[in-house]
Amino acid sequence: MPVYLVTGAAGFIGANYVQHLLEWESPDVEVIAVDYLGFAGNQANLDLVSDRVVFENADIADLDAMEEIYRRYRPDFVVNFAAESHNDRAILGPSAFMRSNALGAQVMAECSRLVPVRSHVHVSTIEVYGELAPWEKWFTERSPLNAKTPYSAAKAAGDQIVRAYMQTYPELNIRMTHCANNYGPYQLPEKLIPLAVTNLLRGRKVPVYGDGLQSRDWLHVADHCAAVHRVLHAELEPVPVRAATEPELLPIFDVSARHEVTNLDIADRVVTALGLDPAEWIEHIPDRPNHDRRYLIDPKKIETQLGWRPVHDFDAGLAETVTWYVEHRSWWERILEEKGELGFDWGAVAPGPLNAGGRVTTT
Ligand SMILES: NC(=O)c1ccc[n+]([C@@H]2O[C@H](COP(=O)([O-])OP(=O)(O)OC[C@H]3O[C@@H](n4cnc5c(N)ncnc54)[C@H](O)[C@@H]3O)[C@@H](O)[C@H]2O)c1
Repeated sequence: MPVYLVTGAAGFIGANYVQHLLEWESPDVEVIAVDYLGFAGNQANLDLVSDRVVFENADIADLDAMEEIYRRYRPDFVVNFAAESHNDRAILGPSAFMRSNALGAQVMAECSRLVPVRSHVHVSTIEVYGELAPWEKWFTERSPLNAKTPYSAAKAAGDQIVRAYMQTYPELNIRMTHCANNYGPYQLPEKLIPLAVTNLLRGRKVPVYGDGLQSRDWLHVADHCAAVHRVLHAELEPVPVRAATEPELLPIFDVSARHEVTNLDIADRVVTALGLDPAEWIEHIPDRPNHDRRYLIDPKKIETQLGWRPVHDFDAGLAETVTWYVEHRSWWERILEEKGELGFDWGAVAPGPLNAGGRVTTT
């Protein structure tokens, strides 16, 4: 029976992936779910499948701990979703991001070298390419890494070490994905869509940073999970020597539905979906420092080489997502009870070095 080791499994995308994996591969599969239950970790995200997965509370940046887990379970397939993921929190405390996103990526690749697996996917993000100029169409696998925020720079550092492993140890079968912004169930209400829904359901306004015209590329989380699974199982040619100067030949796949929407438009749609008036229920608040303005990525390589296509229509997917948060009130109320309010107000941060001052209630 194949053994899957999935890290970051108590987070948003990892938990969705574990649930889909059990649907796709069950009953002939053993799933080891690893997470250190950091700020965004929530073991309740695995409640529906808790009797079908083994949960390991471990830090992917701890080589001894992870090597021991690899030796104990001997995984065939590894998917590394684990990362610190919130741009706002990365500004206030970048070190944890470097540990999980850069060192953690290396430790995971190293474990797959020490205890060989059939394939290993490192899950990365569109944000490593930096900000897309207004005149550019989109990023591709050939685009240089040009991260400018602490979150995306830590992810880019992880990408660089994973690229080095791909080319130095090609027999390891390490692959990578860069995905657009995800939406769907189980996302921590510190991110735009669940923050908007959970605020509105409590009679609070939706906070929108600055003019709200920051533009993002949106993909349903189930489409992202299907892309990762396809990359994990793809029969790929060995990494050619030419990949050293032609990065699009590396086993890296950009994942997107080519669906660009501004943050303001997202807020507007969520307010409208709940039957409210955007003019009354959206408030503009000070922007976060160094906020990327625009991302869009081209999925042509994964479409043509692996036959992956997104199947979720954005309008229907967003409406279902809003309904999911409406129907799972106890899930997010428990999170807010434990963690407090999750919105940031950068206007409340005192001038001078940024530390812990950014988090306040947004009403
Ligand atoms: N959310 C998006 O829109 C998006 C888009 C593209 C790529 N990604 C990438 O997908 C992955 C998952 O993102 P997400 O949105 O589910 O994030 P998330 O913050 O919801 O979940 C991440 C999980 O990883 C765990 N984690 C963090 N550091 C860890 C460590 N050192 N050891 C063990 N567990 C650790 C956290 O506890 C959390 O449960 C990340 O690598 C992220 O960069 C996310």
